[in-house]
Parts: sequence; C-alpha cells; structure tokens
Amino acid sequence: MAETVFVARESDAGEARVSASPDSVRKMKSLGFDVVVEAGAGTLSRLPDADFEKAGARIGSAADAASADVVLRVRRPNASEIAGYKSGAIVIAIMDPYGHEAALAEMASAGLTAFAMELMPRITRAQSMDVLSSQANLAGYQAVIDAAAEFDRAMPMMMTAAGTVPAAKVFVMGAGVAGLQAIATARRLGAVVSATDVRPASKEQVASLGAKFIAVEDDEFKAAETSGGYAKPMSEAYQAKQAVLTAEHLAKQDIVITTALIPGRPAPRLITRDMLKSMKPGSIAVDLAVERGGNIEGAVAGSVVEVEGVKVVGYNNVPGRIATSASALYAKNLVTFLETMVSKESKALALNPDDELIKATMLTHGGNVVHPNFGGAVAAKTEETA
Ligand code: NAI
Repeated sequence: MAETVFVARESDAGEARVSASPDSVRKMKSLGFDVVVEAGAGTLSRLPDADFEKAGARIGSAADAASADVVLRVRRPNASEIAGYKSGAIVIAIMDPYGHEAALAEMASAGLTAFAMELMPRITRAQSMDVLSSQANLAGYQAVIDAAAEFDRAMPMMMTAAGTVPAAKVFVMGAGVAGLQAIATARRLGAVVSATDVRPASKEQVASLGAKFIAVEDDEFKAAETSGGYAKPMSEAYQAKQAVLTAEHLAKQDIVITTALIPGRPAPRLITRDMLKSMKPGSIAVDLAVERGGNIEGAVAGSVVEVEGVKVVGYNNVPGRIATSASALYAKNLVTFLETMVSKESKALALNPDDELIKATMLTHGGNVVHPNFGGAVAAKTEETA
C-alpha cells in the first residue's frame, strides 16, 4: 500500500502559508505517495482545495493526520496536533527549535521523526531545499514594499513640470539573502541605496547590486564570517565603532531596513532610539529581525509604531505577507527534501541516517531528541557511559 503524505492546515492564526502546492502534490504522487490535503489548507495562499484535488490529492480533515506516514507543515505542530499523529510518522516543518526544547521533547515522546527545514546545510546539493533562502528572499522584497507603503514620499526621482521629487535614500543593514533582495528591490523602485554588513564577503555583493557599501572594515570585520557563511557576534568595541558610523549615515536616510541575524542568538541591536531621533520626520524603519529580538530599539513585533517621529515597521512573519509566492517556493523546498528520503527502487520511505541532510535536520527520532544542538549527542553519551 502506498505511503501517505498529509498536508496540514496551519493552526497559527498569523500563518497564511501552506506546505504544498499543486505542483508539489503532482511530484509527491509521482514519487508513489498518496496525498491528503486538509480542507482549506491553501485558502490563505489562494490555493483552493479544487486545485489540490486536480493535482491528484484527496481533500481530508485533521483526523486524516492519524494515518499519515509523513506530515508536511509550515510551522511546528502544537500539543494537540502532535497527539493526532501516529508514532513513527515523519513531520517536516520550520520547527523554530531554539528555545523551544520542551516542544522538541513532546515530539520525541510522541515517537515522531521531526525535521527542521531551517537547519538544512548550505551546500550546493541542498540549495533547492533551503527554506531560509527561499523565504528570506521574499521577506527582503516585501520589506521594501511595506516601507514604500508607509512612506509619504515617492521612491524614485521624478522630474516633472511641477518640480523635481528627490529619490528616496534607503539604507539596508545586514546584506544576507533578505538584505540583498531588499537592495535589489529598492534599486528597482529608483531609490538611492546603501548597505552594511559585518561579513567582508558581502561587500562585493552589495556593490554588484549598485548600492554603496558602508562598514567599519577593521581586522575584526576581516574575520567576521564563519566557515558556514554566517556572521559571528561582534565585540563591544566593534559595535561601538559600528554605532558611530550608523548614526552619522542614518541621519541622512529616509528609509532603513534591518535584517541582521546571528544563527541561534538574539538579533544584534543596531539602531538606538537616539539614532531614530536623528532621522527626518516621516522616515521609515523596517525591522525584519523583530521576531528574534529586533535590530531596532522600540520596534514592536506585529505592529507599526511611531518612535521619535520614525514609523518603525515590525511585522511578524513577513514571508507570510506574500503567502502565495512564499508557499510555492516552500512547497518546492519540502518536496525536494522528501524526495531524498524515498528509495528509488522500492518507491518507499527509506531514511538514511548517514545522509548529511538528514543528520543536520533531524531533531527527534525513535522517542529521543537526537540533534546535537538540542542535547541529542549529550544524551547519547550519557547512555553510553551509564
Ligand atoms: P542571516 O539571516 O543569518 O543574517 C542576515 C545578515 O545579517 C547576514 O548577512 C549577516 O552577516 C548580517 N549581520 C549579522 N550581524 C550583523 C551586524 N552586527 N551588523 C550588520 N550585519 C550583521 O544570513 P543569511 O541571509 O541566511 O545569509 C548568510 C550567508 O549565507 C550569506 O553570505 C549568504 O549569501 C550565504 N548563503 C549561502 C547559501 C549556499 O547555499 N551556499 C544559501 C544561502 C545563503
């Protein structure tokens, strides 16, 4: 009998994305799965049940999760959802595992094999499964759209018979995936764009998008990138120098978009209240890191607030604000990962525990939390010595 994939309807009220698309359903069917989509799962991403049905899925209810071998989700399941899944089921989602160890323990004791898509290694083979990139890219775009919507002025320079409107000045802090897309989008709208980052590799990328690179380029900056391509936390001395440079530059900007993150840690604080005060009235500050502690002082997660005359935009789940595109890319990321778990010969699920993608993303398995970042390896060691 074919194995079953269940596509859950997200229970979080703020989540408009869905973990499958008609395309990914067709792909899962071709891999040999039966696919059940929970009724209404795609509604907020403008994917009606009928589109999933046409692609070969059966439309079901939450109760169908109980017989699923694989559950696809955008977010980690809550306790009652976990209780509805069968022991041994694979659950794949953006698990947001850091700081949520109790939730991981719940999934482990329910016997689930849970995978965190955001822990996918950034290697060539896994690029098409990289949800951080697919979602951050859209968030970077949406941040500029949100800024433009709040801004009382025009983005491009306009020379009209009635006079000239100056181009908006946009400063992007953090030039990773989201930041680079924000730069590209702001440039397309005609803004004059500058950007900063602590990773030296970002300098060339910023310049290649036609933006001006601004950073404290000392010895610490030259060593600020980890082998995984991420930023390191910077010293207090560096942060102080960075703050002086940021303060000077910000006073001349109309819009600032911050995207700075350090994996597994709170977001670095880059903009203080005083810096906001130095900006012109009606300036806009978008904090894409707001859910991880925020880059901007005074930013409120889930809100647009006025701080020192600056509108500080702190929407949660920014990829979810562009849900149709975000779901399409996320669904593709998931199905590409799922495909690696299917044996070509038997067309059945066959997890290879030695596969580096599995090792990097598997949180729980066989009743235990197995990921080394969450006590997995430590627990295994204790067992050995006991
Ligand atoms: P991220 O989301 O963890 O952080 C966003 C940006 O904030 C990063 O560029 C980081 O350097 C910057 N940042 C951190 N602390 C800062 C501070 N104090 N001041 C200013 N900026 C600060 O990073 P993201 O977007 O996930 O990208 C990290 C790197 O990984 C990038 O170089 C990206 O191009 C690379 N990458 C590689 C992939 C691959 O498959 N090889 C796929 C995707 C990204």
